[in-house]
Amino acid sequence: MCGIVGAVSYRGVERILIDGLKRLEYRGYDSAGLALIDRTKGLQRLRTQGKVQNLETLLNQSSLQGHMGIAHTRWATHGIPSEQNAHPLMSHDELVIVHNGIIENHEELKNFLLKEGYQFFSDTDSETVVHLLHYHSKQYPDLLKATQQTVKQLEGSYALGIASIHQPERLIAVCHGCPLVVGKGMGENFFASDPLALLSVTKEFIFLEEGDIADISCDQIHIYTAEDIHVERPTRILELQSDFADRGEYRHYMCKEIFEQPQAIIRLLEGRLGRNTLLDSAFGLKANEIFARVQHVQLVACGTSYHAAMVARYWLEALTGIPCSVEIASEFRYRKTVVPANSLFITLSQSGETADTLAALRLAKKIGFLSSLAICNAPESSLVRESDLHFMMRAGPEIGVASTKAFTAQLTALLLLTLELSHQNPSFLGTEKHLVTEIKKLPKQIESVLHINKAIAKLAENFVDKEHALFLGRGALYPIALEGALKLKEISYIHAEGYPAGELKHGPLALVDKNMPVIVIAPNDDLLEKLKSNLQEVRARGGELYVFTDTVQTADPGIHIINMPSVDPILAPILYTIPLQLLAYHVAVLKGTDIDQPRNLAKSVTVE
Ligand code: M6R
Repeated sequence: MCGIVGAVSYRGVERILIDGLKRLEYRGYDSAGLALIDRTKGLQRLRTQGKVQNLETLLNQSSLQGHMGIAHTRWATHGIPSEQNAHPLMSHDELVIVHNGIIENHEELKNFLLKEGYQFFSDTDSETVVHLLHYHSKQYPDLLKATQQTVKQLEGSYALGIASIHQPERLIAVCHGCPLVVGKGMGENFFASDPLALLSVTKEFIFLEEGDIADISCDQIHIYTAEDIHVERPTRILELQSDFADRGEYRHYMCKEIFEQPQAIIRLLEGRLGRNTLLDSAFGLKANEIFARVQHVQLVACGTSYHAAMVARYWLEALTGIPCSVEIASEFRYRKTVVPANSLFITLSQSGETADTLAALRLAKKIGFLSSLAICNAPESSLVRESDLHFMMRAGPEIGVASTKAFTAQLTALLLLTLELSHQNPSFLGTEKHLVTEIKKLPKQIESVLHINKAIAKLAENFVDKEHALFLGRGALYPIALEGALKLKEISYIHAEGYPAGELKHGPLALVDKNMPVIVIAPNDDLLEKLKSNLQEVRARGGELYVFTDTVQTADPGIHIINMPSVDPILAPILYTIPLQLLAYHVAVLKGTDIDQPRNLAKSVTVE
């Protein structure tokens, strides 16, 4: 979490840093800062609590400028969001650093540095890095050498940007457990947590690998491994346009991204479906040989991506007969697991940088899984680079913290995976043609659901003054209930829970009264009759129901019906997600919350 950006140039870099930070705000936005080095003015620093906008205002009011600088947007882990804890952090007005990640042994380092006479000005773990760097620079005046000595003592995950008043022509960038790219310019070079930050100044990127340290000046980039071997890393040209992540006519990224879902799914399906079948190449030709051996599937993810994995278990076991386990990454990585024979390890992640998911993958590679597959939206991410196989979601950048189009793209990808794995199972051979036809209808069906946007905006008025909400579903719609609840709580701050409807009478029914809206996902499927009984249980306790359905009709004024188009039950989880996203969005609009950057959260969770 936290975004870092750095630039060294023959021109002023202030704007490059601010623009870069704005594009990195999805990584954290509770404070921001920059440090500039100017040939005449020396080292100058500006920091502020709150968003990058505040920093920009301060910068505009100042006369700060520099040909080289580093900048940071923070998501607090150690120390409250404040100016004093904001980065860049400085030692003796000589050295400055920006840090993304966590220094796990910061207490031990701090004790050592205090004994050495260093004074601390923040409550951050990161401040130990800059003082340690200062300590080593006394023996190793060369900034690269001092950095190499420093990182030997650091435990944890970190991407670092480093500058020194004594070497005003060079920046050092360190990549260890947190992503970092170097951007190549003409007579100027850059680094950032994500290439997105630099698209207005370059399309050429070097993705640093684990342990790499880059020594960057205007005209040269040298990269050294953790073992101090000078290496060449490939340069990749990214075709993305710098304005691709603009909000356009939409008031919020989240709204834009909800409405982009039909197009996102069209892009995902392109070149992957034949007339009646999934194409052999859909998961890459290398995948087919591996998939033919799969006897068990282990899915691991966090948050919304975990909900997608939960849906996949229903599909995979029902349509392929292959046993499937699903686990939250932060649990999986710290548990002793039994790995069944020929088990395929699958990670799901929009960003491809989620620390727990990445750690789970690294563990899986050591404990005997058949192979690893990443279903991901970020082609250059660590998860994609470190997995044996990958399937790109092609949803386009998702900027709003609340995941929307990435979720429906993950579900669609998982449905394709189900089709692929069903090839092994002769009893499901008839299903493919039917499902391919239904999947192709999805973009149009989503469009038709988006047309009920206005009705949902009206419905949202009933939720603004509520403090709690309950979401119910059964079967593969149970994870959708969880996802609906997560969306609502994350952006409107209304406490919401998702439950399998059959669990109602085992506890949550005690909460139901007229003040507890109950949202029910009720497509026409095998479990509908059971679900209807659950609705009666709620009504009998005076609970108000909001039922999303293509079937249920009632004259009961306490049951609000929201009509949905009919859909094949297999695809219902994808389609029924859309109105729940819209509901959360409109409730948040009415509550006036910060929808794209909700409090305490960040888009890319690169710390555990
Ligand atoms: O990038 P990832 O898919 O790995 O992220 C996982 C979660 O952090 C993410 O889905 C989070 O739960 C979203 N904010 C939910 O909207």
